Amino acid sequence: MDKEKVGEFYDVVWTEYLPEYEASENHWKIFYSDTEVSGQKILDAGCGTGIFSIIFAKNGAANVTGIDISEGSLETAQSLKDKFNLETAHFQKEDMLNLPFADESFDIVWAWGTVHHTTNPFGAIEELIRVLKKEGSILLAVYTKTKITFLHEIIRKTLIRTPKKSWKFLSKVLAICLAPIVFFFKKREKSRKGEKLEELIMDWYFVPIRHHYYPEEVKGFLEEKGFTIEKFLPASGRFDSTSNFIYKARKH
Ligand SMILES: C[S@@+](CC[C@H](N)C(=O)[O-])C[C@H]1O[C@@H](n2cnc3c(N)ncnc32)[C@H](O)[C@@H]1O
Repeated sequence: MDKEKVGEFYDVVWTEYLPEYEASENHWKIFYSDTEVSGQKILDAGCGTGIFSIIFAKNGAANVTGIDISEGSLETAQSLKDKFNLETAHFQKEDMLNLPFADESFDIVWAWGTVHHTTNPFGAIEELIRVLKKEGSILLAVYTKTKITFLHEIIRKTLIRTPKKSWKFLSKVLAICLAPIVFFFKKREKSRKGEKLEELIMDWYFVPIRHHYYPEEVKGFLEEKGFTIEKFLPASGRFDSTSNFIYKARKH
């Protein structure tokens, strides 16, 4: 099943690549502050290595729940928690399409780069909205659809057919080939610094499920559900076609 393949894929990715704390926290500060999260209950949906859960916990959140379908990711998240010696974060294996939490359980739901890897991204957003309290905020980072998305999809659907054991090597080779293009032709700096190009390439071109949307589609969906948009970042990466767009929105 595709969902299991996504979990297995991230079992490998999030044990090989570890984010830098400081770069990740600087990126997080674009959206939240310690005053805003202090004493709050947080859901980190698709937590991966758990880096953002740790950041929320270190910035005073009362309780952080990191969920993911990838067991390898959750092990990495647990060792990160042990390293930072934090009692307020915990991690569990859950599918964001079917969460075991009551309605309106969390003050903040953070879903960076995750809903687009599920079999039903708007179903996932709906489920995240369900567990968010009224007046709480949601952060969604979602892959942008552009005129050349189809080209990226052709590359992904070709590369994914190669033997799994060659993926890391291929990502490294592609990173070396693409580095000069990124260096000379990038449109902007990345908002989330500290990620290696080979890690990004692995995530772009070898992931089993990847959906893309126009920002207006997600905005329209959130507004229909009674949210107001508080922050919009149109692109997080060096090129539009490899970026997430980000909405921070409040539930009413
Ligand atoms: C690109 S990673 C992002 C990880 C983390 N949010 C970050 O920004 O570092 C996507 C994560 O979503 C998780 N994921 C994908 N589908 C999921 C689902 N249905 N339920 C829970 N997690 C899921 C993957 O296992 C992976 O760890």
